Amino acid sequence: MDNARTGSMAGRVAVVPGGTGSVGEGIVRAFLSAGADVVVPSRSQAKLDELSELIGPELAERLHGVTGAYGTFAEAEQLAETVKERFGRIDHVVPAVGGWWMGQTLWQTSEDAWQRFFLDVTTAHTAVARAFVPRLEAEGSYSMISGFSAQKPYAGAGIVSMSGAALLMMREVLSAELQGQRRVNDLILGPVITRTRPGGQPDWLTADQVGEAAVLVAANPAVADEHLVLDTVANLDRLRKRNQ
Ligand SMILES: NC(=O)c1ccc[n+]([C@@H]2O[C@H](COP(=O)([O-])OP(=O)(O)OC[C@H]3O[C@@H](n4cnc5c(N)ncnc54)[C@H](OP(=O)(O)O)[C@@H]3O)[C@@H](O)[C@H]2O)c1
Repeated sequence: MDNARTGSMAGRVAVVPGGTGSVGEGIVRAFLSAGADVVVPSRSQAKLDELSELIGPELAERLHGVTGAYGTFAEAEQLAETVKERFGRIDHVVPAVGGWWMGQTLWQTSEDAWQRFFLDVTTAHTAVARAFVPRLEAEGSYSMISGFSAQKPYAGAGIVSMSGAALLMMREVLSAELQGQRRVNDLILGPVITRTRPGGQPDWLTADQVGEAAVLVAANPAVADEHLVLDTVANLDRLRKRNQ
């Protein structure tokens, strides 16, 4: 078992779909800091370039951007095949796909919002899971990122709550079907301090601390089939203790 220390993930390949996003950035930085090679697929080369700038030249040497979508089963399958071929192995996958949206009650919800924030997000997550889980190394892990609204109804953000809840059940189904063959966990986040929302309460996690938590989960073979609530820094401390 490993902790999140520098170099502990040397030789490992981590894939972070959503790595260009505000939470994903911290996850990417944490796996790079721990020594992994990190693959970030994105629909936008400009967002990959921005991520590389944010990460800085030293760590970015092991950051591998792949331009392309994974929003359909075929696209995700192609991506997973490409990553496996190019890097020879896939150790850890941490999808941080989809973001926040609010503004319409369920009875006002437009078809466009439903498509973008429910159907597109849940389809991308399902596509990534079905393409990557079978290609994971035996000791590998799959850690889905979700948000507090998946468990708490959020007035005006119902479709984000609903897609989050669907993803939590997807993780439970994966655990039931894998029966211990691969480690699958979900990390359910409270509000996070990020580059796009730099302010917050002192006990909120930063994106880098979410990344640290994701590395701790990936590095600890005892963390399997768990629903890990990461509301505050106290939750991260408990995770750190489990890796000591
Ligand atoms: N930010 C917070 O405070 C917070 C709090 C709790 C939970 N979370 C959770 O953290 C995860 C990421 O949130 P975030 O705030 O980092 O979001 P974000 O900044 O909007 O980033 C979302 C990422 O998802 C990728 N993506 C791929 N397909 C997508 C699609 N169909 N629709 C939208 N995005 C798509 C985007 O990649 P490309 O555009 O590069 O392809 C982008 O990198 C989500 O699961 C969210 O629920 C965030």
